[in-house]
Amino acid sequence: MNSQNKKVNLALVGATGLVGIEFIKILNERDFPFNKLFLFASEKNFGKKIKVKDSVYTVNRFDEKYFDDIDIAFFATSTKDSLEMIKMIKNKKTVSIDNSSAFRMKENIPLVVPEVNFHKIKKGTKIIANPNCSTIQLVTVLYLLERIDKINSVVVSTYQAISGGGKELMNIFLKQQKGIYTENEPVVFNNLIQFIGKFKNGFCEEEHKIINETKKILENKKLKITATTIRVPVLNSHTQSVMAEFKKNVGIDKVKKIINKSSGIVLTDTIDPISVSGTNLVFVSRLRKDPFFKNRIHFIITADNLRIGAALNGIKIAERLRDEI
Ligand SMILES: NC(=O)c1ccc[n+]([C@@H]2O[C@H](COP(=O)([O-])OP(=O)(O)OC[C@H]3O[C@@H](n4cnc5c(N)ncnc54)[C@H](OP(=O)(O)O)[C@@H]3O)[C@@H](O)[C@H]2O)c1
Repeated sequence: MNSQNKKVNLALVGATGLVGIEFIKILNERDFPFNKLFLFASEKNFGKKIKVKDSVYTVNRFDEKYFDDIDIAFFATSTKDSLEMIKMIKNKKTVSIDNSSAFRMKENIPLVVPEVNFHKIKKGTKIIANPNCSTIQLVTVLYLLERIDKINSVVVSTYQAISGGGKELMNIFLKQQKGIYTENEPVVFNNLIQFIGKFKNGFCEEEHKIINETKKILENKKLKITATTIRVPVLNSHTQSVMAEFKKNVGIDKVKKIINKSSGIVLTDTIDPISVSGTNLVFVSRLRKDPFFKNRIHFIITADNLRIGAALNGIKIAERLRDEI
């Protein structure tokens, strides 16, 4: 069969969440031929009808019985649910692409950004981890820059959107926007939260994820990378201020040239999260040399966390996987 027309059977677990909805939008936008599609969510959405391409699908309760002939399953669920559910289908033929952090740092599980390390997926791989949303946009750019020269150190500070915290945080934000505040909820509207997740050794969970996942994907355990992650009152798309230090002095023109030649990264003077949202591109802006350290450059990365940082990454993996199934 012409691999162009090859159809696979798909499942999407967490179809009604922010990432799940983005998966559906992208399936509608792209030419990804599939036969069956099963959608799953929590009890509150059982029976909900969702249109994908020209068919209407019903949201079901997750059950391993649906997975006998599912080739690829996307998981856009919590870490706990992904762990349990993927374990339940381990004897099926399904390859699971998981957006949670459940499997990312497991040594034998590939943590994949297709443009960077698709080769980590081997014949027989059953679980593929999608990296953290901030990690994906960062490594996409660092990987490209490493083609000029080895990067010694990275300092990244993030301005992360509300949608990165899922549907619940988004609903809190929208409620507070209308002036409704409830006790014990974080104040996210008109505010800025200086950490994301629990603290360990002075760094919060999101910072550990960026640091560890970047090292794993770039296969550079010695990379000197530190991160500061901040939640800002922006609905969607993450922004990162990055300092990257090369081993040697690299001219800024060389950096501009390689970004301009790349297919998925756009170099621009300035850009904002509203303009970036809904796009399938990673934007690099404010690119400049450090005035004091000749090997250092500074720039800003902005990308849609639900697309680049989650659903699109999963779909791109599946598109390449489809040719090999
Ligand atoms: N948001 C981002 O930018 C982003 C980026 C990268 C990775 N991730 C990761 O991707 C995952 C999903 O994130 P999200 O932002 O989409 O979260 P979300 O908006 O809270 O959505 C969670 C989804 O899980 C579903 N779910 C809950 N319990 C379930 C169950 N028992 N069976 C089946 N489905 C169940 C929910 O269904 P109901 O709607 O019925 O409750 C919903 O569809 C998380 O692990 C997150 O860390 C998120």
